[in-house]
Amino acid sequence: MIVLAIESSCDETSVAILKDQKEVLSHIVFSQIDIHTIYGGVVPEIASRNHVKHVTRLIEEAISKANINVSEIDLVAVTQGPGLIGSLLVGINAATAFAYANNIKIIGVNHLIGHIYAAGIENEMKFPLMALLVSGGHTELIYMKKDFDFEIIGTTLDDAVGEAYDKVARTLGLSYPGGPVIDKLAKLGKDTYDLPRVLLDKDEFNFSFSGLKSAVINKVHNLNQKGLEVNVNDMATSFQNSVMDVLLEKSLNAIKKYDVKQFILAGGVAANSELRRRVNEEIKGIEVLIPSFKYCTDNAAMIASAAFVQESINGVNENYIIKGFSTKQNI
Ligand code: KG4
Ligand code: ZN
Repeated sequence: MIVLAIESSCDETSVAILKDQKEVLSHIVFSQIDIHTIYGGVVPEIASRNHVKHVTRLIEEAISKANINVSEIDLVAVTQGPGLIGSLLVGINAATAFAYANNIKIIGVNHLIGHIYAAGIENEMKFPLMALLVSGGHTELIYMKKDFDFEIIGTTLDDAVGEAYDKVARTLGLSYPGGPVIDKLAKLGKDTYDLPRVLLDKDEFNFSFSGLKSAVINKVHNLNQKGLEVNVNDMATSFQNSVMDVLLEKSLNAIKKYDVKQFILAGGVAANSELRRRVNEEIKGIEVLIPSFKYCTDNAAMIASAAFVQESINGVNENYIIKGFSTKQNI
C-alpha cells in the first residue's frame, strides 16, 4: 500500500510518501523556523500563510521524488489535530482537494499518535510498550497494550517539556526554538545552579515543569538585580539536568510498574542528545526505540506510518476514541 501523508500542524510543512510503512519513497520537510525565529516563537497567521505558499509545491515534489504515478497512491493521510487551527486547515484542505481530485481515500491522523508511530518506520513496535512523548505541546507517558490502544498514565499538569525549553531559552536571551540551543550549550556548562527536580507524587506519573521554569526566571532576575552575570552555559546544563532527571525517573518507575517489552521515545524533544544518551544508558532489560532525528520533530513520514496501522484496524477511522486519544478530536 502506498500512502501520501501531509503534516502542517505547526511551523513545518511536510509531505511524505511511504510504501508499506517502512519504505520511505520520499520525505520532504519545509521548516519555517527561520521565518519565526525573529519573533521569538511561532506566529500562527504567518505559519498558515507559509503553509499555503508551499504545500502544493511540496506535494508535487514528493510525488516526483518518489518516482510514482498519482494513480499508484492508495491512501491520503493528513494531520487533523492537535495543532494550530489555521495551519491544520491548510494541510487538511490540500489533502482533501488532492484526494478528491484523484479519487483516493483520505483519513485524518492524530498528530500525537503520529509521533509515537514514528518508531514504526525504522523498527518493529512490540507490545506491550511504554512511550514517552515529549514535544512542544505535550509531555505524556503512554502505555500501549496493542496497536492503537493508548492509556495515558501520566501527563504534564502545566508546561510541556518543549515549552519549558523554549521559555527558558527566551529568558536567557537565546533564539527560538530553545531546545536545540540549550542542548548545545548544556554540553559546555556545569550543573551549578541547584534547580529543583519536581517529582510530585512518587507513585504517580504526572509531570510539572512550570516550577522549574520559574526557578530559572527567578535566579536570572535575582542575578540581574545584583548586577551579576548569568552563566548561560551553566544555566543550560542545570536546567537540562533537572528536566532529564525527572523524565528518566518517571520513565523508569513506569517501566517497573507496567511489564513492557519496549520503551519508545517520541516527539520533538526526543531529538535532545542528552535525553537520547540517558535513555539508551539507563533503560535496561527492555528494547529501546528512538527514531532518527528527522522522525522526531514534526514530519509527515510519522503521519504516514500511523496511517498504515490506523487503516489496517477495522473501524478505526470513525469515532475512534480511547482514553484521551481520538483521531477526530483536539484541533
Ligand atoms: O514535536 P515538535 O517538533 O512539535 C510539537 O508537536 O510541539 O516539538 C517541538 C519542540 C520545541 O519545543 C523544541 O524546542 C523541542 O521540541 N526540541 C528540543 C530539541 N529539538 C527540538 N528540545 C530539546 N532538545 C532538542 N535537541
Ligand atoms: Zn509534534
